[in-house]
Amino acid sequence: MREPNHITLEVTNRCHLECSHCYLETNRGLDELSVAEIETNLLPHLREYDIESFVITGGEALLRPDTDEICEIVSRHVDELRLLTSLSTPEAASRVNDLPIDALSVSVDGPRQTHDAIRGNGTFDRVLENLRRIDRTCLNELYLNCVVSSYNEDRFSDLLEVVEPFADKVGFQLQTWGRPSDVARSAERLGCDEGVMMLPVLPEHPANTAAVNEGLRDVRERAEQSPATVQVFPPGASESTVDEWFDGGERDHRRGCEAIYRRPLIGPEGDVYPCPFVRQPMGNVRDDRLTDIWTGREMSQFREQLSKEGLLPVCNRCACSS
Ligand SMILES: C[S@@+](CC[C@H](N)C(=O)[O-])C[C@H]1O[C@@H](n2cnc3c(N)ncnc32)[C@H](O)[C@@H]1O
Ligand code: SF4
Ligand code: SF4
Repeated sequence: MREPNHITLEVTNRCHLECSHCYLETNRGLDELSVAEIETNLLPHLREYDIESFVITGGEALLRPDTDEICEIVSRHVDELRLLTSLSTPEAASRVNDLPIDALSVSVDGPRQTHDAIRGNGTFDRVLENLRRIDRTCLNELYLNCVVSSYNEDRFSDLLEVVEPFADKVGFQLQTWGRPSDVARSAERLGCDEGVMMLPVLPEHPANTAAVNEGLRDVRERAEQSPATVQVFPPGASESTVDEWFDGGERDHRRGCEAIYRRPLIGPEGDVYPCPFVRQPMGNVRDDRLTDIWTGREMSQFREQLSKEGLLPVCNRCACSS
């Protein structure tokens, strides 16, 4: 079996922002794994795998006062430790500069006005100020992630020249979302509650596909001159991909989803999920070893179902489906 090579740990569900495009239901008052639980119940089992990257995220990971301790213990077990953050909490840069991380991913969703409309007033200036203060000497990579949606369709390409002085890589990712019927059909296939599907649910997406395609063309043109590496997700998204993504057609998943084999997601309370958007717990690291959960009956049945019957309707607009 293909083994996990990438772990994502959401250390908290708390968040101080309410971004318009976000798939998470934040601030649910969860009983977060303690540093000791992460150290005892999770990290020793990573030895069984060749983990290329371990991502600490949330919610907003920097809201946890002990995220530095978590990074410290995780960094002893993995080759690459990455923090994924909005970089918009007070003192974010000085905290990040003290963390033993190898890579930093920061979310920026447009130039000032657009980013602030999505993420809240003043957040753009804060993230830019923090980016200026990041000490690059200890980081192998600074990655900026922009989610492309109706909220920034006219402006996302303008972001590139603003952020390229700070970033090694800039990613433009089409927003994951689903229709009520996608959620209902996915839940029915899995025999679970619809609440398991964690993605923005809209009867139809308000994005103007012509504007998104124009923005992506602009991004690709600007990328040729940019000192940063520019990526679009899903990779190679063509005009017809964008039309299907936002206007509604089914995508043709010829190769399936690698994430459900390689990328366990561990939630704040220790639940192990197949991916960020299908929050069906396959086990909990408080009770079982990650290896046993990932190779266990529920996870195997889930993979088998997707492999035999095809990916779920909610996979239609997820960059992991290929
Ligand atoms: C859930 S956030 C957690 C980390 C941190 N709070 C942040 O915003 O960077 C992780 C990443 O997912 C992105 N994201 C949120 N909702 C999304 C969606 N519906 N589709 C694609 N990406 C999304 C965010 O913009 C962010 O880059
Ligand atoms: S995208 Fe990140 S910062 Fe924004 S609401 Fe979601 S978790 Fe919070
Ligand atoms: S393709 Fe489907 S199963 Fe795979 S990560 Fe995306 S939503 Fe999850």
